Amino acid sequence: MDQITPTHYILSMQSPKILDIDPASVDNVLARWRAGQLVAIPTETVYGLAADATNGQAVARIYSTKSRPQLNPLIIHVSDIAMAKTYGVWNPMAETLATRFWPGPLTLVLSRQPDSPISDLAMAGGATVALRMPAHPIALTLIRAYGRGIAAPSANRSGRVSPTTAQHVANEFANSDLRIIDGGPCQVGIESTVVDLTGDTPVILRPGAITSDMLSAAVGPLAVAAVPPSHGGAHASPGQMESHYAPSIPVRLNATSVSSDEALLAFGTTVPQGAHTTLTLSSQGDLIEAAANLFAALRALDQPQHRCIAVMPIPNTGLGEAINDRLKRASVR
Ligand code: TXA
Ligand code: MG
Repeated sequence: MDQITPTHYILSMQSPKILDIDPASVDNVLARWRAGQLVAIPTETVYGLAADATNGQAVARIYSTKSRPQLNPLIIHVSDIAMAKTYGVWNPMAETLATRFWPGPLTLVLSRQPDSPISDLAMAGGATVALRMPAHPIALTLIRAYGRGIAAPSANRSGRVSPTTAQHVANEFANSDLRIIDGGPCQVGIESTVVDLTGDTPVILRPGAITSDMLSAAVGPLAVAAVPPSHGGAHASPGQMESHYAPSIPVRLNATSVSSDEALLAFGTTVPQGAHTTLTLSSQGDLIEAAANLFAALRALDQPQHRCIAVMPIPNTGLGEAINDRLKRASVR
């Protein structure tokens, strides 16, 4: 735990604190997790609001801090496959996908181990558990040192755009004393692919950085969860709730022209002129670069002087599927 000095006390009551990674901050994170507290940590996808997944009170604190509807289960972050096997019932598809894509932006939904120490609340009382081994070295170091699963939803208030820098997290939780470990801008920039492996055919619950083509090359045909289920459905997934990644101003998709009171989110070289402000996801039309810039650009354009954010068409191939999924949700009001 931190030493409580008067100055520190006043600061910590007022604002979140961004910390660099060093031996002292590692100790600080581990002590906070042991005490059931939250720490925001970087992952390669987006920043996570992280706590001990085996501690029900800590998990409850995640939900209340995010104002998240309690029925939405959390991803449990692990440091290796051996840890994953203690929480979820492993199967051959899990072995293939974890060997191929872990550490990395892929979350596997498995049946929960009957004697799993993960808090029921983290799994929203369900029979399945979502597991991911993140690739960010800071996340991996911290989870390995802690030795238990870490529950970490994206470190934003429920329904808002996911944070891809430490400063985004600080802005989301401005009036808190949250500690945030700075790992730089997230390299992937879009949340992990969530794939349900509890049936015969894998089902993509949320498109992400590991594309459907990459998955089917490894395990054969896949299904994509068709209709976003209402809360609490069999495949209930906040990533599937209709409006989830919402800026506070409207989002207009497939814009081919733009007016002077609009902000433009551009892609590629042929950009319509005349917007109030324009940000380009990737001038070369590179989907990886576009995904990495997506959430920061949405945040930057989300200003009251813009009538809306107009978004140019993005090809729906590869990583474009995940980008279009997030943009579609951002446009639902
Ligand atoms: O990239 C990511 O996945 C980030 C970083 C921090 O790891 N985390 C993240 O968590 O996006 P969150 O809580 O914002 O989204 C978790 C997704 C949701 O769509 C949720 O419904 C799904 O995973 N999920 C979690 N447990 C599940 C389960 N048992 N069954 C089905 N879906 C589940
Ligand atoms: Mg989220």
